Amino acid sequence: MCQPAMREASLTEQENSAEAELDEILDGLSRPQKTLSPKFFYDARGSILFDAICELPEYYLTRTELSIMQMTIDEITTLVGPQASLIEFGSGSSLKTRMLLEKLDRLAAYVPVDISREHLLSAAESLAADYPAVEVLPLLADFMQPFELPNPNVMPLRNIVYFPGSTIGNYSPEQAHSLLQVMHVEAGKDGALLIGVDLQKDTAIIERAYNDKAGVTAEFNLNMLSRINHDFGANFDLNLFRHSAIYNDEYGRVELNLISECEQTVLIGGRSIHFDTGEALLTEHSHKYTLEQFSGMADRAGFVVHKVWTDPEQLFSIQYCLRV
Ligand code: TRP
Repeated sequence: MCQPAMREASLTEQENSAEAELDEILDGLSRPQKTLSPKFFYDARGSILFDAICELPEYYLTRTELSIMQMTIDEITTLVGPQASLIEFGSGSSLKTRMLLEKLDRLAAYVPVDISREHLLSAAESLAADYPAVEVLPLLADFMQPFELPNPNVMPLRNIVYFPGSTIGNYSPEQAHSLLQVMHVEAGKDGALLIGVDLQKDTAIIERAYNDKAGVTAEFNLNMLSRINHDFGANFDLNLFRHSAIYNDEYGRVELNLISECEQTVLIGGRSIHFDTGEALLTEHSHKYTLEQFSGMADRAGFVVHKVWTDPEQLFSIQYCLRV
């Protein structure tokens, strides 16, 4: 079912070398606003902590998205119709993806697209084993750039791009726009986009979700520093940084930072990086949109929002967008 030759070939092209990643880290730490890319969250421990975040009582996103899916899966199935190809941006072996593989009518193929070989293959293998009727065609690619879709054995009647988890919110509005443009290309004629979008709401609810009592999100955020210590020989002292997640009203986003508790110098790759007391190191943004804002973004990328489902409290939305 998988295509090993294709995977290996694209692997060498796509995978960043440790050297390039170190350069990227040093570049981020040399800016006036120090930054580390969220991709460094996800080592083995980071992935486990992220799964734990999704189960936290304060973290309403995963639970709410799943409950909306459960309520609307039959409607989604009708809208998608038979023999579609499901193209997931990112590789999910989540319950939501499983629900689609189980319920969508005679799927022509499931194509998870991911830049991480490990995530991609483990998710694809487990789904291929559990849904033998669906042709699983994992694609190793950076989905920020248009890519060529594999050809399933059965000719798909339409492509459905799937992007759950409000991951769209982790991109800047500009990046989100170009991502939606790539999705527009990949959806193709008669295609559609099924996307999970977290909504703007009371600041307290949002901030609670990223500042859980058990401290798992803090641990997840700080784990980035131990990961960089371990993989890139840095000497961050985790006791001298603290987790911060604050909702910025002006930009409609949660800003995740690690705050330096004192004046200090960190060594990495032969360089010294100086931190002032209280200086913030940005690790991630999580944008929240109103329905109007997201509909405008979809329009600008050539989609029209056809159907929106939300939970009774309007915390989260799942949106079905048609390609125009
Ligand atoms: N997209 C989800 C969100 O923004 C999940 C997520 C991504 C997340 N990065 C995170 C959650 C960092 C907590 C911390 O909430």
